[in-house]
Amino acid sequence: MKNSDRVGFIYFREKAYEILENYLLNQIDSIKNTFILLDDRTHKHCLPILLSHIDFLKKSNLIQIKSGEKEKNIHTCIQICKNLEKFKANRKSLILNLGGGVITDIGGFVASIFKRGIRFVNIPTTLLGMVDASVGYKTGVNLDSIKNEIGSFYIPEFLIIDTHFLKTLPKKEIISGMAEMFKHGLIADKDFWIKMNQIKDINNINQWDHLIHQSILIKQKIVDLDPKEKGLRKILNFGHTIGHALESYFLNTEKILHGIAVIMGMICESWISYKINGLSISDYENIKSKFSALYPMQKKFFDLEDSEIEKILMIMEYDKKNENNKIQFSLLKEIGKCSYNCQVPHSLIKECFFN
Ligand SMILES: NC(=O)c1ccc[n+]([C@@H]2O[C@H](COP(=O)([O-])OP(=O)(O)OC[C@H]3O[C@@H](n4cnc5c(N)ncnc54)[C@H](O)[C@@H]3O)[C@@H](O)[C@H]2O)c1
Ligand SMILES: [Zn+2]
Repeated sequence: MKNSDRVGFIYFREKAYEILENYLLNQIDSIKNTFILLDDRTHKHCLPILLSHIDFLKKSNLIQIKSGEKEKNIHTCIQICKNLEKFKANRKSLILNLGGGVITDIGGFVASIFKRGIRFVNIPTTLLGMVDASVGYKTGVNLDSIKNEIGSFYIPEFLIIDTHFLKTLPKKEIISGMAEMFKHGLIADKDFWIKMNQIKDINNINQWDHLIHQSILIKQKIVDLDPKEKGLRKILNFGHTIGHALESYFLNTEKILHGIAVIMGMICESWISYKINGLSISDYENIKSKFSALYPMQKKFFDLEDSEIEKILMIMEYDKKNENNKIQFSLLKEIGKCSYNCQVPHSLIKECFFN
């Protein structure tokens, strides 16, 4: 096995299927005790790919839910548990999560609570799922409109990364997932940021899928140093304090993709970093110009009125990541280095939308 095929419990490319097949043959008492959780789209686009690699998975049980964030709730989990019960799942059962972040979040959470915990494997099929949602042991569902309010930290047996799944993923989802990859470069690895900016053809994923692997490893390394987010792991929230607030603010009018909100969040938070955290003006301008070139910014972000910005600030104040009633930011010191638990004056948060 080449080194690059196996990193910790993350397996890449063809080798990943060999590992999974061996695991199923040796660690599971019967294939009937394996459950594939998927949604309608991953059933259509991704299950055939998985089955083409491991034919006998055809005999496993399928549990299908509708696709979409709306399904990420406790009611869906109860339905999945009832299905597991119906198929006589036991403590030795295994769930294979085949899908994007919604599936890996729900499936991981169900695995953590069903019979006080059963095993699961993540097989992410979206870019965001690969580089972010399936890495880092966080599982969970939303409580009404509060994102990820119910959840657990729970470790999968391993992760299977196959970038072939991305061929059927809509381009806007690819661009959204790339935002998290750019973030990994900005917070922890300047060389990676430079490489990300050298991607020539977004549509030709073969040309840059090694960067997907690298991005996963950057996140995994940060998570390993601080699995429960007591400190360092907070740097992964760069761009998300403002990004999440924008996402929530626009939720009721027109949904914006997470990655697009995070890009806008990273531009704003880079500007704050320049104002109070030592980021140089040239680094700030580099970030802003790279993002503006790649992500045509929607006009609505720049047309926010004072009253709207007040509302966005209120959303930030309710964010669960705040401590002592203060909004906490992760801010860049330079490209590749990030601080966390930074407090920012309200006046500066308001100004950052106009730069
Ligand atoms: N646990 C974490 O640490 C973490 C981190 C980041 C995000 N998340 C969560 O991830 C979720 C978002 O994940 P997402 O962006 O992957 O969304 P998603 O799972 O809803 O997938 C997006 C859409 O793509 C479809 N799809 C999936 N794979 C496909 C493929 N290969 N081809 C065609 N269509 C495909 C899905 O059916 C869905 O309609 C959010 O709920 C977010 O909270 C979790
Ligand atoms: Zn994110």
